[in-house]
Amino acid sequence: MTGRPAEDDAGFGVYVHWPFCASKCPYCDFNSHVREGGIDEPRYLRAYLRELRHWAELAPGRQVTSIFFGGGTPSLMSPGTVAAILDAIADAWSVASDAEITLEANPSSVEAARFRGYRTAGVNRASLGVQALDDADLRALGRLHTAKEALAAIDVARTTFERCSFDMIYARPAQKLQAWQTELGQALALAGRHLSLYQLTIEAETPFATLHARGKLRVPDGELAHALYALTQELTEAAGLPAYEISNHAAPGDECRHNLTYWRYGEYAGIGPGAHGRVVAGGARHATSTERQPERWVQRVEMDGHGMVERAPLSRAEQGDEALLMGLRLSEGLNLDRLAAVSGMRPGLRAVEELFGLGLLESCGDSRLRASRAGRIVLNEVVLRLASALEPVSVPAGCGVTRKS
Ligand SMILES: C[S@@+](CC[C@H](N)C(=O)[O-])C[C@H]1O[C@@H](n2cnc3c(N)ncnc32)[C@H](O)[C@@H]1O
Ligand code: SF4
Repeated sequence: MTGRPAEDDAGFGVYVHWPFCASKCPYCDFNSHVREGGIDEPRYLRAYLRELRHWAELAPGRQVTSIFFGGGTPSLMSPGTVAAILDAIADAWSVASDAEITLEANPSSVEAARFRGYRTAGVNRASLGVQALDDADLRALGRLHTAKEALAAIDVARTTFERCSFDMIYARPAQKLQAWQTELGQALALAGRHLSLYQLTIEAETPFATLHARGKLRVPDGELAHALYALTQELTEAAGLPAYEISNHAAPGDECRHNLTYWRYGEYAGIGPGAHGRVVAGGARHATSTERQPERWVQRVEMDGHGMVERAPLSRAEQGDEALLMGLRLSEGLNLDRLAAVSGMRPGLRAVEELFGLGLLESCGDSRLRASRAGRIVLNEVVLRLASALEPVSVPAGCGVTRKS
């Protein structure tokens, strides 16, 4: 199949959502489900393959630059299922020879034993959910693995895959600054060239939210939360893994290409229960999403050939808001020319200057804006102010940063 590049240089990614976990962590609101009796994996595989064929018709001729198996816990999939999905992606589109193929894995010993099989299937990058390096904290987070198992899984992943990253959660209940300093130092010593560091968020309708509302779970806030964030930036920069996105750190050149496609507002197919996609079809960017509930998703695919419950064109204003929201997460900043190309709009000069004046926004090269370190802490506020100041590009006074000639 001929390889037409995606709509722009932001790439074309394929996201495959595996919605099952061995147990549900009390802080997590991802679309993940526990099925005590097991699942019919061959039936799910057939559904993934059918939905992929549907996507290939929606977005024909793209060249795939990245594939991401996310969850849920994709490391519960058998390597044969992963291999069959990768083969089907290669049948549906051309896959770039240097495509990044990531699989999210939980660091239990059972799952680490499958890593070699995933590599043989074509996975070249692993992302492990380590979360903490302390057994008591892992138990408090409801994790099934120990710190020792996590260390062993990092070791196996680093020797098995070309690239490897792991996730940690900080600002955990009762976490002190000193304890995080020690733990982050340990994580940085173990990390390769990429590390994701998420500040714990209390998500609605999770057990943590219930405990939090009853005053039974206290998480760092205010000054301590700021200090934890500042320390995280300081230590990761000193270790050569600066933030390239709010929660993601990498050595230059080792950023997660798949996630960059989202943040640079590229195109991506979303396959599996509750997966989201963005595709340009008939000149308009469409938002897609699929049925979240796994059993209903599989039934829909069997009936209709896909599990999509939404496929709606986005207005230019909606595209502007999305591109702004995504681009301002990045240290490389938001490309204003690209924003203008997708939405026909730029942020007005007055709002930009006000945010410059408040030290929340800065210029970062030709026609680029980014949130400053202070701005990243109040990013939602910055995005809201810029989004409400978007003006059609025909308005002469665009924004105050240098524009490409
Ligand atoms: C989809 S989860 C999948 C990873 C894998 N299932 C695991 O748990 O190891 C991706 C990451 O989101 C982060 N995460 C999930 N819920 C969070 C929350 N409430 N606050 C902060 N980080 C969270 C965790 O670090 C997790 O590894
Ligand atoms: S954090 Fe990972 S393992 Fe835990 S419930 Fe969420 S997706 Fe599943």
